[in-house]
Order: sequence, then C-alpha cells, then structure tokens
Amino acid sequence: MRTQVCIIGGGPSGLLLSQLLHRKGIDSVVLERKTKEYVLGRIRAGVLEQGLVDLMRQAGVAARMESEGYVHDGTQISCGDALIRIDIKALTGKPVVVYGQTEVTRDLYEARENSGGQIEFNVEGVTIHDARTDAPSVTFMRDGTHHRIDCDFVAGCDGFHGVSRKTIPDDVRRDYEKVYPFGWLGVLSQTPPVDHELIYAASDRGFALASMRNSNLSRYYIQVPLSDRPDDWPDQTFWGEFKKRIPQGHAAKLITGPIIEKSIAPLRSFVTEPMRWGRLFLCGDAAHIVPPTGAKGLNTAASDVHYLYQGLCQHYLEGSDDGIDAYSDKALARIWKAERFSWWMTNLLHRFPEWSDFDLKMQQAEIDFLRSNEAAQRALAENYVGLPY
Ligand code: APR
Ligand code: PHB
Repeated sequence: MRTQVCIIGGGPSGLLLSQLLHRKGIDSVVLERKTKEYVLGRIRAGVLEQGLVDLMRQAGVAARMESEGYVHDGTQISCGDALIRIDIKALTGKPVVVYGQTEVTRDLYEARENSGGQIEFNVEGVTIHDARTDAPSVTFMRDGTHHRIDCDFVAGCDGFHGVSRKTIPDDVRRDYEKVYPFGWLGVLSQTPPVDHELIYAASDRGFALASMRNSNLSRYYIQVPLSDRPDDWPDQTFWGEFKKRIPQGHAAKLITGPIIEKSIAPLRSFVTEPMRWGRLFLCGDAAHIVPPTGAKGLNTAASDVHYLYQGLCQHYLEGSDDGIDAYSDKALARIWKAERFSWWMTNLLHRFPEWSDFDLKMQQAEIDFLRSNEAAQRALAENYVGLPY
C-alpha cells in the first residue's frame, strides 16, 4: 500500500490528525491494534480546552460536542468545607467544554468512516522502517498476512505503550519521568452530578474530584494507595469515603446509586525528547503523560496534532518544511508548561504519604493564597483553559 502519512494508533490523536489532513486532501492510513469497540470502551477524562474545541470544528466533527457538551465558565477547588470558585471565563475570557474523551473519539471514528477514511484494525507487529530516509515504510501483520505501507511520513499516535517512541534509539531519546505515590479510583454512576461545575477537593483524607458526563451520568474520583484494587472499594465504601472528602454541603445533597464502571489509574508525569526522528513524529501519549489533575492529557495531544497538521500542510501545500522542522520544539514548549501545571495541581490537591507537617503547611498556605489572590486564580485559570498554541 502507499499513502502520504501513515498514522500508527486509532486513539483521539491519530483520528483527529487523519480527519484534519483528509479535509486538506492529504492522504493517510490509520493502523490500530485493537478493535473500534475496544478503543471506545476506555473511559477517559473530559475537559476540552478552547484549542481542541476549535480543532474539532476545523475537522468538521463538532456538532454533537456543541449540542451535548457542557460549557463551563468556572471550576471549583474545595479544602475541607471551604469552596473556592475559579471564574475562568471572567479571568481569561474563555470557558472550557465538558465532553467525554470517549465521545470525542466516537465522533472522530464516525467522521472517518463517513468520508471513507482507511483504518486498519487488529493489526499486529507494527514496525517502522527507514524513518531516517525520505521513503519510510511501515509493516504489520493482520489475519496472518504481511502488509507494507510506503509513505512520506509516519505519525506515532500509539500511546504510551506503543511502538513509535521505542523506534527512536535510546542514545537519541531522553525520557523524563515522575511517578506519584498514589492512584485515582474513578467511578461512573447513573446519578445526577452533585454540582453543575467540577469540584477538585483537597481534604485531609486525600484528593477527590466531582465531574460529570451528562445530567444523569456522573464521574467521580478519589485518591487511593497504589496497592488498592477496585474490589477493595465496594460501592457503599466508595460513597462513604467520597462524602468525607467533598464539602459537607455537597455531601448532604449527593445522590448515590449503582456504580457502572470502576477502575484505578496510576498517576505519572512523563515526557520524551525529541518528538521527531527523521520522518517519524510522535503525538500525544506516545511522547508524554500528565497526571489527570489538570485535565491536560487529551488537550496536549490536540496541540501536538495542531502543530504536526500545520507542518504537514506547509510541506504538501506550500512546499516548505519549516513547520515540520519546528514541530518537536514547538510541541515540547507547550507540553512542558502543561506538565508543570498538572504537577502543580497534583501537589496542591493530594496528600503525599511522605509529607512532613511543614509540607502540609505549605500546601495549606498555597490554597489560602489561591483563595485570597486574584493573580493566583488568573494563573490557574489561564492554564486550565489552555495556553495559546
Ligand atoms: N500498533 C497499532 N496501534 C497501537 C499500537 C501498535 N503497536 N500500540 C498502541 N496502539 C493504539 C492503542 O490501542 C490506542 O488505541 O494506539 C492508540 C493510542 O491511543 P491513546 O492511548 O488514547 O493515545 P492518544 O491518541 O495520544 O490520546 C491521548 O488518551 O490516555 C489518554 O489522557 C490521555 O487523553 C489523552 C489521550
Ligand atoms: C473527568 O471528567 O473525567 C475529568 C475531569 C477533569 C480532570 C480529570 C478527569 O482533571
């Protein structure tokens, strides 16, 4: 087979890139090792920056997001029973949109299928060849048959456990990582959200987050030790603990019910440099991971896609390689700021087992400063709505 851009990974990064390129007449093939149902079965976060909202519009896949997504002009931070509302719209002029990543991915699959996009599912043994030449290729197996795709560029959108990052030699690549000493137990419940805005709760029992998917589908999280298993948290135990971590006023009005999804995710900050090696470009989780505390996972993947899409359009439509040559530096500059914000939010809102009383006092002082200082609230708001591309 031959294509212009071979995209490895059928998650939100790969699909958004493929759809944007398609609308500019640039050909791509997406290789996904799982089934579409499996990809759509993964529950992920759901706060979209304006930049991603604009990209969805540019890609022609914004209709359902605009009709079913929630526009939020604010977010909330609680400390015990005290609640700090961050008026992100007043502080930055921009809202965020709450719309599940699963729905974003579903809309992108539909758009690719409607426009005859080529997506190869259930592929195995994906291998990138000759990325350092002008004629790279990708080989893979499916149903016992060997396949090869000749292409101009390879976009590695295959997530943290993908093959693309590992294709870049160790002596070229530099990885930066921080693993946090706790995880997030996330639940989905068919109950009305406890508040119409998100609540990021810092409590002396640990972090909690109240989020939503729709008017009768809530998404709640609590910080748990990494050794915990979902079975350690029967529904009633979860509800009991969650109530103790959010402000009592909200605990009193919390509607509980059957939990339909329950999973634990570790928290990690990770970045690999560079994000380009010859004709191979890394996007999204293939190159960087953030703890979910800042809701930056999908949004940093989107800014990567924005920069790569711009660069590839310049290459094919204007004959200039300035954009692709600047891709890695541009993407990393924005990613490191999102990493800092996510790390800062994680330190602001979680309880670290190894912390001293002095550390706790520092956290308390940081929250008090945030409560009482507009500049601090604006700094949080500007990062939360998304720094400019
Ligand atoms: N060959 C083909 N496909 C692969 C391979 C491989 N060797 N390895 C992984 N994949 C597929 C995975 O099955 C997955 O569907 O690549 C896709 C990568 O998708 P994501 O992990 O969702 O990564 P990305 O598209 O960059 O989206 C980033 O996902 O994890 C969240 O918080 C993160 O919101 C962020 C978003
Ligand atoms: C979610 O809705 O799942 C969510 C929202 C905000 C976060 C993380 C997750 O920071």
